[in-house]
Amino acid sequence: MHKLVVIPGDGIGREVVPVAVQALEKLLPDLRTVEAEAGWDCFQHGGTAVPDATFQALRECGAGLFGAVSSPASQRVPGYRSAILQLRQTLQLNANLRPVRSWPGVSPRPGVDLIILRENSEGLYSGREHLEADGVAIAERVITRAACEALARRAQEVAKARQARRITLVHKANVLPLTCGLFRDTCREVLEGEGWAAEIDECLVDLAALRLVEQPEAFDLIVTTNLFGDILSDLASHWSGGLGLAPSLNWGNGIALAEPVHGSAPDIAGSGRANPIATLLSAALLLRHHWQQPGLAKRLETAVETFLREEGKADFGFETTQVVGQGILAAL
Ligand code: NAI
Ligand code: MG
Repeated sequence: MHKLVVIPGDGIGREVVPVAVQALEKLLPDLRTVEAEAGWDCFQHGGTAVPDATFQALRECGAGLFGAVSSPASQRVPGYRSAILQLRQTLQLNANLRPVRSWPGVSPRPGVDLIILRENSEGLYSGREHLEADGVAIAERVITRAACEALARRAQEVAKARQARRITLVHKANVLPLTCGLFRDTCREVLEGEGWAAEIDECLVDLAALRLVEQPEAFDLIVTTNLFGDILSDLASHWSGGLGLAPSLNWGNGIALAEPVHGSAPDIAGSGRANPIATLLSAALLLRHHWQQPGLAKRLETAVETFLREEGKADFGFETTQVVGQGILAAL
């Protein structure tokens, strides 16, 4: 039996997640879902952004589908820490897989097909931030050999499955020789050991940003640290057709949590304009990588492609979630 924890979260998370659950129910007749809470609303009502029951459900089921959560950016809220960061760190979801490819009708450029594999549990997201003095704020960037090794082993697995020709390590070791140096050297050691013989390349993060704009075809599998991966994956999502088409999988320690790259989009929440494709494609990642059902993953991606080939250029306005969702479910 396939078990799935469903965490809609805040904003458009609640609108796009039900579409992907319907698709998974259609593909996996034995699917059993458990709904769980997380996010800003959850914090405001219950005083915690991720209740123990949510952690427990994920540990028991091993698979989850997460929508998006809101985090206040205007001021620090005592006791609040982003729900998705807590889930990634507590459950040791050490890697975040973010594929970017061209889709018919919506992509500004054909032929892009790359993956960003981002470290997901440390780096500048360590949560270690403090005020040292008035006007002096410090954030600590944590890089550990153990997390880099786990990330590189995952990269090896992804490279093998994809028959990747090149793995590009993206860092800033010229300015951060200790942290980025440890990342680069550890990844190289693991990747140059046994396994898939892809070319191991490296690129400083600023140049990687330019190359992703100028020549995205130059990349195959990018492996990078947490914040760099966060920024580069939003940038690269442009080639897919934007954040509404960018999927991800938080992955590690026997648990996989699928999650669209986008946030809770308060500017369009409740309007019906949220595109559910990023979440549908995240569900496909769960099928391919966690449940080991590449055939079903392909079926879902083909349904997305079929829909976009016919309707990709259309603007469905306030009916986007409904029309796109129904169109893809019908093509499944
Ligand atoms: P966002 O990703 O929510 O939205 C950025 C822009 O993209 C907005 O104009 C939005 O309307 C559009 N957009 C996003 N997803 C879309 C979709 N599926 N269909 C159509 N348009 C879409 O990022 P933003 O505005 O910076 O953050 C909003 C909130 O989300 C913040 O509270 C932030 O902390 C949170 N956030 C949460 C994330 C998560 O849960 N993993 C990730 C990023 C942001
Ligand atoms: Mg992001």
